[in-house]
Amino acid sequence: MSQNTSSAVMQQRSEPHDSLDDFPTQPWATRALCEHVLKGCHLASKTVWEPACNRMHMAAPLAEYFRSVASSDVHDYGIEPDTNGFPFQYDFLFMGKSPIVNSDWIISNPPFRLAEQFIARARDLATEGVAMIVRTSFLEGVGRYENLFSKNPPSIVAQFSERVPMVKGRLTATGSTATSYCWLVWLNGVTTTKLVWIPPCRKKLERADDYAAYREVAA
Ligand SMILES: C[S@@+](CC[C@H](N)C(=O)[O-])C[C@H]1O[C@@H](n2cnc3c(N)ncnc32)[C@H](O)[C@@H]1O
Repeated sequence: MSQNTSSAVMQQRSEPHDSLDDFPTQPWATRALCEHVLKGCHLASKTVWEPACNRMHMAAPLAEYFRSVASSDVHDYGIEPDTNGFPFQYDFLFMGKSPIVNSDWIISNPPFRLAEQFIARARDLATEGVAMIVRTSFLEGVGRYENLFSKNPPSIVAQFSERVPMVKGRLTATGSTATSYCWLVWLNGVTTTKLVWIPPCRKKLERADDYAAYREVAA
């Protein structure tokens, strides 16, 4: 048995307590959610909010499927706001009145250490459903079971059959990872959990320009 010690693996998401958890998601993983998990949810007529949008690598593919996309992040990553003012700077866990109301969906890759709070806040705000990509290991843990899963189990656990490499501070086109990810979906009113597998789809769902702005220089 060998251990994968590539830099992507070594940069797993074990971050300092006050870290922003800056790990962008490869766009194909968001397309996989829309194509394989939320198909039948009539996304083309729905609105979505990506509340930890970082450099827009999740918000951009969501715009391919949803009627409109709102985006925000607690940190300013230097993305020029569009004519609707998105993205805007906002702490999603600030419990005051939300600047976005009646969003059908809230979808994100939340900072790992704040994922439970993100899920709770998103479920309070979204009118139809919430989807969060998390490490598959997020499903275990007594505290998380007691606080979250025993009370509010996800409607769908969608396990990736392929790995979704994420590295700190940039989108990677080529990285590998030993970390497994899944999408957790809460559909309002559904209280039982269905386990599904996302079939291999990276090759089909990747676009040539997905990594253009952050193209890695070959070593
Ligand atoms: C794992 S990254 C995900 C980025 C993006 N969703 C993606 O998938 O490419 C987590 C993001 O959460 C943001 N973040 C951390 N705490 C936050 C908060 N309280 N409110 C909003 N965004 C926050 C970070 O700035 C970072 O961009």
